[in-house]
Amino acid sequence: MCGIVGYIGTREAFPIIINGLKRLEYRGYDSAGVAISNNGQMGIYKIKGKVSQLEDAVKKTDIMGTIGIGHTRWATHGAPNDINAHPHKSMNGKFVVVHNGIIENYSVLKKRLTARHYTFVSQTDTEVLANLIEYIYLFAKISAEDAVRFALSKVQGAYGIAVICTDEPDKIIAARKSSPLVLGIGVDEYFVASDATPFVEYTNQVVYLDNDTLAVISRNGLSIKTIKNVPVTPEITEINFDFDEIEKGGFPDFMLKEIYEQPHSITDTLRGRVYMQENEINIGGLLDVMPRLMNARRMIIVGCGTSWHAGLLGEYLFEEYARIPVEVEYASEFRYRNPIINSEDVVIAISQSGETADTLAAIQLAKKCGACVLGICNVVGSSIARETHAGVYTHAGPEIGVASTKAFTAQVSVLAMIALMVGRAKYNIKPVQYHQLLNELTDVPKKVEEVLTTADKIKHVAELYKDSPNFIYLGRGCYYPIALEGALKLKEISYIHAEGYPAAEMKHGPIALIDDKMPVVVIAAKDKSYEKIVNNIQEVKARKGIVIAVVTKGDTIISQMADYVLEVPEFETAIGAMITVIPLQLLSYYIAVMRGCNVDQPRNLAKSVTVE
Ligand code: G6P
Repeated sequence: MCGIVGYIGTREAFPIIINGLKRLEYRGYDSAGVAISNNGQMGIYKIKGKVSQLEDAVKKTDIMGTIGIGHTRWATHGAPNDINAHPHKSMNGKFVVVHNGIIENYSVLKKRLTARHYTFVSQTDTEVLANLIEYIYLFAKISAEDAVRFALSKVQGAYGIAVICTDEPDKIIAARKSSPLVLGIGVDEYFVASDATPFVEYTNQVVYLDNDTLAVISRNGLSIKTIKNVPVTPEITEINFDFDEIEKGGFPDFMLKEIYEQPHSITDTLRGRVYMQENEINIGGLLDVMPRLMNARRMIIVGCGTSWHAGLLGEYLFEEYARIPVEVEYASEFRYRNPIINSEDVVIAISQSGETADTLAAIQLAKKCGACVLGICNVVGSSIARETHAGVYTHAGPEIGVASTKAFTAQVSVLAMIALMVGRAKYNIKPVQYHQLLNELTDVPKKVEEVLTTADKIKHVAELYKDSPNFIYLGRGCYYPIALEGALKLKEISYIHAEGYPAAEMKHGPIALIDDKMPVVVIAAKDKSYEKIVNNIQEVKARKGIVIAVVTKGDTIISQMADYVLEVPEFETAIGAMITVIPLQLLSYYIAVMRGCNVDQPRNLAKSVTVE
């Protein structure tokens, strides 16, 4: 949460920072600000609202300078307003700071600084940090770099920061603990940002800053040290980035583009891993840990939000094919219990961003207990990807819409591959069946494509029910996670209250909500519990509920009972079941657009949740 960009070089910094911040708005978008240093003068421009509003507000101002830092905010301490927007200046104006994370002991530090006559203008923890750095700098008469380092040693919590000192205006000091920071190395210019997207058009040479390290970038170079002042040799990575991936490419929103990208993103996720002719799955990143996977006593899947839903589908797949007992945990709950984990357990952390604070903490706990920890991440080089023993990238391409869509189907594809690979290695699956399952997996993109052609029908249903205040989503077995995901998509982008429930559980409560105004979305594609779901639909109809059913193409039974059916192509197993999420993604998308909501940046949400 919160995005940071910093630039130092030979070009004008302001436009680079503004454009960079726009690409980071998935991390938060309630206020934005930029500080530009020019010949010893520091100009700070900040505003409540989006980056484009900041851009408009300063349109008539001549902002010059080749060094600067910027921030797009997701509020933690202090309401979103102009004053709480970053950058924050220290009381005597010596330091300017942008920060992503939370300083947990800020109130103690604030009290101490207040006792030393420091005053504060904002409610933020970041201003406390800016003042702490300045206090140490002035009191100890040390360099800006040392003052930042010393201040950070007094801080508890998470931070990714970029700092400029007005006495040493030709450098940016950046540091991180638990919040991501990436450095970009160009020719006579350097960048720092929460991810690499703000500077991909300028350089493909990046350094992922490690936890507890501090970097100083100037026009002449880069130096990295640990927070304890031990020099670190920068490890430069070359990134391959397709610029089109972060543009809307003719779609009105990123979310719609990302929904439509799924045939490709799933194909990319399977590419080079599923070998039909050889009847084999080969995931390079897992070779070393295969014995641990095969002998796992138990699997624990951790994640948050949509990634947790993918984990629930993973449970189904692992139990079915790998025959390993699985528990699926919210990372935020898991990390604060005292879970019983040992070296025979395998923990799989699922995270699109690879930066979710709770998931990261869950991994650290599992590692401490001796478990083998795998990551399924989309963002290459992310903290979770680097923190796990082994892992698999989803290769879905950058997901910018805050509501996750293509990451979900890519995560489920990876889980399916691992479950099948382990199942086969344990001889649970015979070669012929394995071939059929691989076929089903590689057919998913084609089937998703087919569902996407039914968008007009889905739009029609959206038009009819866009004003309903409530929705219920029901599914059994592997469709239960799909029901949860459908409900989550609807509430997060359209602000309609929606509940996902296992269909049979409906009788134990939600059925009381059903009347002739309640749309009930039932995932009812053919599988072994088909008859049961038909009964559940009858139960809804008996209470006059409005049934919108996702059914297998050509289904005649449910078509007669349901008010509307959304068809998906036929599939055989839980692997193919992931395609039933597509109509639900589109339904939420159209409803949200028809209600005038900003689907890419829903209120109060952010994509990379780096605070717990
Ligand atoms: C936020 C996003 C969700 C996402 C969840 C977990 O809530 O809005 O779309 O599913 O975080 O994020 P992760 O990056 O760990 O998958």
